[in-house]
Amino acid sequence: MRDSHQREIHDLRLSVTARCNYRCVYCRAGEESAQPPGELSWEDLEAIARAFAALGIRKIRLTGGEPLLRPGLAAFATRLQDLQLEDIALTTNGHLLAEQAESLRAAGIRRVTISLDSVQPEKFARITRVKNGFARVMAGIDAACAAGLGPVKINAVLLRGCNDDEIEAFAALARRGQVVVRFIEFMPLEEGRVWSPELVVPMAEILQRLAASYPVVEIPCAPSETARRFRFADGAPGEIGIIAPVTSPFCGQCSRIRVTADGKIRTCLFSLREWDLTAALRAGSGADRDAALRRRILEAVERKEARHHIGEPGFVRPGRAMVQIGG
Ligand code: 5AD
Ligand code: SF4
Repeated sequence: MRDSHQREIHDLRLSVTARCNYRCVYCRAGEESAQPPGELSWEDLEAIARAFAALGIRKIRLTGGEPLLRPGLAAFATRLQDLQLEDIALTTNGHLLAEQAESLRAAGIRRVTISLDSVQPEKFARITRVKNGFARVMAGIDAACAAGLGPVKINAVLLRGCNDDEIEAFAALARRGQVVVRFIEFMPLEEGRVWSPELVVPMAEILQRLAASYPVVEIPCAPSETARRFRFADGAPGEIGIIAPVTSPFCGQCSRIRVTADGKIRTCLFSLREWDLTAALRAGSGADRDAALRRRILEAVERKEARHHIGEPGFVRPGRAMVQIGG
């Protein structure tokens, strides 16, 4: 499946719930959010996954909100195995991972990415606005490694003045060789949320800081990879990634498409438009429904945006962020 910019779209991010048990300061409003309306059934999500697979999607990443909050996730992953995908992965905040890692691995999930924005327990609590989460996430990381859900990746969104003093500490964590640590530039994903260019810690600065502490050497890799990858110059084990959507956009290589937990296609994190799949899901049974889904997907893919416009005059943020409807 190609878009109108000749990019092959083979990577689906499927949100299974918009709910989250964390309220990260840059992602969620302060108040507890109610159950968002419109969450699709597992059967509908499976029909969507099947339609994408028929169109050439090779990899599915299950996302949220927080996917582990939704009962039935492992059973759903098991059913996805019928689709013969190259990869089934999961993004989680790790809070519930210790108890679920084994069953997720048994259900055919190959790899997990865990969000961890601080290696200091008190700061972690301030960012996520949840007490005592840090120890649970650490246990989740260990359980994921033990269950063979590796290479386990850790995502750290750097926020100036908040956790940018932890670049070296994260590098030290990477050097233990158990997990790959990836630094992510902070993006303006949603209207009304805190964001300003000053809060972004650019890739160039991260590399300077690493050069002064734990020098790294770039690992050449496929252009379709969103992360630049680095190993340690002194031969220590471990790997660092830097994802720089703000200072070094990779839109030209984008192979992704996203579906929200309420059944809307987002062709870009910064899409202002969503493509509703619910009408297609109700278009009769079996073959009719599947054909309607495929038509709707192709219609959306055809109009996938060429690139994002962060930092340009007139840039408008989406009304809701993909991480809240599924990152
Ligand atoms: N900028 C960059 N990354 C973000 N994430 C959530 N919001 C943002 C943002 N504004 C990250 C989360 C998680 C992943 C799903 O997306 O920290 O690692
Ligand atoms: Fe934090 Fe991810 Fe939950 Fe947003 S969806 S509050 S980034 S854990």
